[in-house]
Amino acid sequence: MGTARKYAVIDPATGKIDRSIFSDQAVYDDEMEKIFGRAWLMIGHESLVPAADDFFHTYMGEDPVILTRDGEGRLHALLNMCRHRGNRVCRVDDGNAKRFMCTYHGWTYRNDGSLEYVPGEAEAYFGALDKPSLGLTEARLETYAGIVFATWANDAPSLEAYLGDARWYLDTVFNRRDGGTQALGPIKWLEPANWKTMVDNCSDNYHVPTSHLASARVQSRWLGRPRLSHEDQFASPNKHAFVNGHAVTFRDADDNTPRFVHGMSQDTARLFQEYHEATTPEVERRLGALRARRVQLGNHSIFPNGILGLRLALPRGPLETEFWHFVLLDREAPDEIKRALRIGSQANNGAAGMFEQDDVDNWRQVTQASTSRLGRRHPQDLSMGLGHAGPHPDYPGVVSERYISENNQRLFYRRWEEFMNAESWADIPLAPIRARFDGSATMRG
Ligand code: FES
Ligand SMILES: [Fe+2]
Repeated sequence: MGTARKYAVIDPATGKIDRSIFSDQAVYDDEMEKIFGRAWLMIGHESLVPAADDFFHTYMGEDPVILTRDGEGRLHALLNMCRHRGNRVCRVDDGNAKRFMCTYHGWTYRNDGSLEYVPGEAEAYFGALDKPSLGLTEARLETYAGIVFATWANDAPSLEAYLGDARWYLDTVFNRRDGGTQALGPIKWLEPANWKTMVDNCSDNYHVPTSHLASARVQSRWLGRPRLSHEDQFASPNKHAFVNGHAVTFRDADDNTPRFVHGMSQDTARLFQEYHEATTPEVERRLGALRARRVQLGNHSIFPNGILGLRLALPRGPLETEFWHFVLLDREAPDEIKRALRIGSQANNGAAGMFEQDDVDNWRQVTQASTSRLGRRHPQDLSMGLGHAGPHPDYPGVVSERYISENNQRLFYRRWEEFMNAESWADIPLAPIRARFDGSATMRG
């Protein structure tokens, strides 16, 4: 059970934040229960389990979970813990299996979680074992455009309400084409950083011209990508928005150009332009003209730990995070586009990605600073753009006036407080869905 501890870690008037939340074990233990024990968590993608009886091993926070597709095609998120003594019943990353047998005493579960066979059920248990009550523990599961989410909380709202108006922006990447998306990967690695440092970094464009200077110069020089400078950023009409814990940055431009993504270079720009033009009528039918032609999702995070697309920051203690990097592709995109995105994504944000390595150094140092007794006396300063964000006539959520702002970070840590101080979901506020979802795209794709 959680403690009655009350958290007030960020001062909304000054943006000062208590840095001990990045390294304190007791805070971390509370997070596992109050955030990872109750939020909707991104755990995978339907394309990872395309056929009946496929499974994919994943995590909800620190808890091992098997994502299965049963014989009837239904998805399940099952805690990988034998209900007898607790052994893992699945020891591999993925595969196809109708059953999972625990290798301690042989209890065997169907892939819908039900306990099917117990050695000695009649002889050893005298027929007294309550098998129906001993299936694998199952989480609630819902999908959004093929992305699989799960929660342990029976009182959680629907996934649609949880994503709320953030989906208005997310649709522009995740829900673009009739054929949906496919996930490749993941690449997995460990980072010596607190999980929150990488989530709040998703809305930090301020660091890009400094931290990524060398990487950006390489890209400008050799790939023909646009220069990155503070001046360009400060003059940019792009914006940040925040809804229900989810943070997005987006490009706001009426030039109807393809989204500038890793993998796009002077060699592939024509391909991306052609793909954009060929698919615009379909995207407009699905998302409406404003989102199809003008709004482009930039960096984003889905509360609590979904980062920049289908990438996960899985907590492994206060000072360590296991990072999972998937590449998400439009299923019906031409092979050349898929290849460019696959290579570009890994070259920039994979384990050996140029940008990723720049970022990890920052996250590690922010985490390390929070372990210092002296350092903890001095809060982080997240004051940038205070008082310069609010409702916008065209765009949902709390929208910042500028592209460079710490509004999303302040609101992320306030959302964190809301979860950490809540007794149940009844205490966690949700913004109502107000955005106009023009077009035919739905939660189901
Ligand atoms: S722990 Fe699984 S069968 Fe005993
Ligand atoms: Fe970065």
